[in-house]
Amino acid sequence: MDVLQAVNEPVWWRRGIFYQIYPRSFQDSDANGIGDLPGIIGRLRYLKDLGVDALWLSPIFPSPMADFGYDISDYTAIDPVFGTMADFDRLVAQAHASGLKLILDLVPNHTSDQHPWFIESRRSRDSTKRDWYIWRDPAPGGGPPNNWLSEFGGSAWQYDAASGQYYYHAFLAQQPDLNWRNPAVRQAIYDVMRFWLGKGVDGFRVDVIWHLIKDEGFRDNPPNPNFREGQPPHQALLPAYTTDQPEVQHVVAEMRSVLDAFRERVLIGEIYLPIARLVAYYGKDLLGAHLPFNFALLSAPWNARRIEAIIAEYEHALPPGAWPNWVLGNHDRPRVASRVGAEQARVAAMLLLTLRGTPTLYYGDEIGMHQVAIAPEQVRDPFEKNVPGLGVGRDGCRTPMQWSSAANAGFSTAQPWLPLPDDFVRENVLNLEADPASLLNLTKALIALRKRCPALVTGGYEPIAAQGDLLIYRRRSGSSSVVVALNLGADPVSLSSDAIPLSGEILLSTFMDRVAEPISGTLDLRGNEGVITSAVAAG
Ligand code: GLC
Repeated sequence: MDVLQAVNEPVWWRRGIFYQIYPRSFQDSDANGIGDLPGIIGRLRYLKDLGVDALWLSPIFPSPMADFGYDISDYTAIDPVFGTMADFDRLVAQAHASGLKLILDLVPNHTSDQHPWFIESRRSRDSTKRDWYIWRDPAPGGGPPNNWLSEFGGSAWQYDAASGQYYYHAFLAQQPDLNWRNPAVRQAIYDVMRFWLGKGVDGFRVDVIWHLIKDEGFRDNPPNPNFREGQPPHQALLPAYTTDQPEVQHVVAEMRSVLDAFRERVLIGEIYLPIARLVAYYGKDLLGAHLPFNFALLSAPWNARRIEAIIAEYEHALPPGAWPNWVLGNHDRPRVASRVGAEQARVAAMLLLTLRGTPTLYYGDEIGMHQVAIAPEQVRDPFEKNVPGLGVGRDGCRTPMQWSSAANAGFSTAQPWLPLPDDFVRENVLNLEADPASLLNLTKALIALRKRCPALVTGGYEPIAAQGDLLIYRRRSGSSSVVVALNLGADPVSLSSDAIPLSGEILLSTFMDRVAEPISGTLDLRGNEGVITSAVAAG
């Protein structure tokens, strides 16, 4: 059944385009400078017009906000800053009514230190929930049990004077790791999943899923021989015993089976691993994550050969039947418009929306939002606070959505929790909607073209060339075929038919002109131009 569906009418998460919303920064409705659920409801129309199919919301659950919602103190409620459960139910109903799926962020690796489970666990060594977290005695000579480091700086072990033991936290000390070797913990989180699935959510993006299981013997992590000054300090060690442990696959399969008790839900895994390891998370017989997030483009050098090599490596590594996916930005990484520049951001959009597999857009990338400069006194991100000066801060990619040139960019009537850049008066949804050649209108055109062109959804990926700044590939499904030619450089390039025989016409240029221009013999690309053609490229 699943296979037939893949061939004929792909299931929604294969067919669709995902859009990540960072709720604090999307739309404020109650004038506190922080985005909320009613704000999102008010913007469903915009999302529908954009053409995306599924919304993933970063965490909206009660939280002390030490890590802005990734420290959860109640898994089955809504933080008042975002609204109420009634607002949430309304959001699900209205999203569904307009044909949008809704995906929640599941954060099972750790809770807040204010979660009742941890409060109970910390109460004493005899607590019934002691083993829900990872408690260890000090090392024989005193000090932390081993050398494991927190991703947010310092030791990953926090001493609890009352009980004389340490607890493990892969991130902040306010984010103690749950003990996923304990079946009671697993059941508790599976119940959380059932709670939200029962409310109609269409799936989960699972936070740091490759972290869930740690080495049973608590062995020291080995030093990283390639560590260089300027890297975040935790990278001084290789995470050999803290992440990607073999037993985690069993847990992912269990999560999947919880999900599979409901119809057509999606399991997405947040996984920062090399491609060869990443693909293991599709699971045995593809019964793991449907979409282990592919972050390869987030750190890719913007170079035709490198990108082609990444695509090739990924395509070859995918297990048979596994569905690919691509990501250009998220709430943890610098904005794509700043990584590749404003001109190339248009080419990047064409790349993302023409590759094989489910694309995930990050809010604001469709209007070219760039990394916003954050003054020292405006820093909110705990990562930057703990490890200052290395440029790890994530506030700059989490700034308010720029809706209009009104006060606070139409995001809020109050001062936003993070600053807006000066250029929001130009770079905003309202202005860009009115400009036919804007990145926003290009993104809409790319999405619309993807929807009416089966080759772009279900078609195979065939590399054609990666020469100089030029990246060319074909997507083909039966008789439907398109060629995508991207100029990743600022100089014009001319492609002669001797090198790559082409004929047909241009369907879309990143400059939004040249529609239906015939191609015969040569294809000329301006600097920073990408085109999708109906061309038949021999070869
Ligand atoms: C994930 C989230 C990130 C968070 C971390 C700890 O990587 O994407 O924002 O800080 O997990 O929960």
